[in-house]
Parts: sequence; structure tokens; C-alpha cells
Amino acid sequence: MAQSQENLIKIIILGSSNVGKTCILHRYFENEYSENSLSTIGIDFKTKYFKFDDTKIKVNYTDTAGQEKFKAIALNYLKGTDGAVLVFDVSNKETFSVIDSWYEDIKQNNKMDIGLILVGNKADMEDREVSESQGEELAKKLECKYFETSAKTGQNVQAALDEIAKITYLKWKVTKDSRHSIRISSADSVGKVTISEKKSCCGSSS
Ligand code: GTP
Repeated sequence: MAQSQENLIKIIILGSSNVGKTCILHRYFENEYSENSLSTIGIDFKTKYFKFDDTKIKVNYTDTAGQEKFKAIALNYLKGTDGAVLVFDVSNKETFSVIDSWYEDIKQNNKMDIGLILVGNKADMEDREVSESQGEELAKKLECKYFETSAKTGQNVQAALDEIAKITYLKWKVTKDSRHSIRISSADSVGKVTISEKKSCCGSSS
């Protein structure tokens, strides 16, 4: 039987073109790295299964295209997502300075309080333009965790993508549980209405 859609969590990877989004996913899923990664067109996703609180959770990691001409597709996909990874390149400060704008896009296109991490990729590069403390500071402002990764060496890639699944699951669970309790309380009130109607109809207090 197909996996219940109720246990599906969607995570989106966002950031400027060329920051290494595809390479991060390639490292995470295949443990491989290519210098000749092609620019993503539209979107692409990969799936991993986790077990949280004894529940099997299917997590879709969606790779988006950072090129401006494909931005509308990424923004559209944001609407149904549960978590996001904001990626910049530590050797390119322009990709860091646009993180605020990606963050605003998340807030405007997704009504929920979604899971979020900030990733500074290409940490293997010697000619840095963004320091670790600048990354930490921005993450503090966005109220999320910060990871420095290298898809090239593999540094921190697994830790970052496992963590966003966990953070997103915890937020998703709170939303799911509150939806469940709303369903239960509305069922209760229907029950009460039925009882009071019965009383007035029959003129009995039993
Ligand atoms: P779009 O699909 O255009 O949005 O780009 P992207 O963010 O998916 O970038 P992609 O993964 O295609 O990587 C772009 C380039 O950066 C490639 O040439 C990669 O080899 C290189 N690159 C990716 N990650 C790293 C890294 O950790 N270190 C170094 N040194 N280079 C990297």
C-alpha cells in the first residue's frame, strides 16, 4: 500500500545559483562530488526515510534552481513546504547578502512556522568573503542554526541535512497534533448539541 501522505515532510533547498545546492544533495544521497555539476532547471527532489518517535517519516528534499529566471517555480513550490535550507557560498559575499531576501520570500509564500537552517557552503575554499562569525550572526537574526559545509570534502553535509529533517519533523508534529485536537474538540461540540436538542424535544432531563 502507498505510504500515507500524512507522514510526508517536504524540505526545500534555496539560494543563489552556483552556491552548491545540487552538490550538497549529491554528497548527501550518493556520497559523491562533481566539479562539473550542471545548473538545475526548475526543480528536482530526492527522498529519504527517517524514524522519529517510532514513526516512519518520508522526507522529500527539493533542489531548486537559483537562476533568477526560474525563481517563480521555487516560490510556487514554497507554498506546500514544511522546511527550508538557505544556502550561500562563503567565498561569494553577494550570495550571502541575498539570504535576507530569500528569507522574506519564505515568509511571504508560506503561512506556517517552518523548519529552517542556514548553510554556508564551500567551506573548503581558502579565499573566503564571509567569515564563520558573520554566518553565525545572520543565523541568530533568522532564529535558526548555522552549518558550514563543503560538498567537496563532505564536511558537515550529513549533519546539516539530518538536522533540518529533525527540526522540521518537530514543527510538523506540533502542527499535526494541533489539527488533530481541533478535530476532536469540534466532534465534542457536535455531540453536546445533539444531546441538548434531544432534551428539549422530549421534555425529559434524562
Ligand atoms: P543552480 O542549480 O544554478 O542553482 O546551482 P547550485 O547552487 O545547485 O550549484 P551546484 O551544486 O551546481 O554547484 C556549482 C559549482 O560549485 C560547481 O562547479 C561545483 O563543483 C561547485 N561546488 C559546489 N559545492 C562546492 C564545495 O563545497 N566546494 C567547492 N570548492 N566547490 C563547490
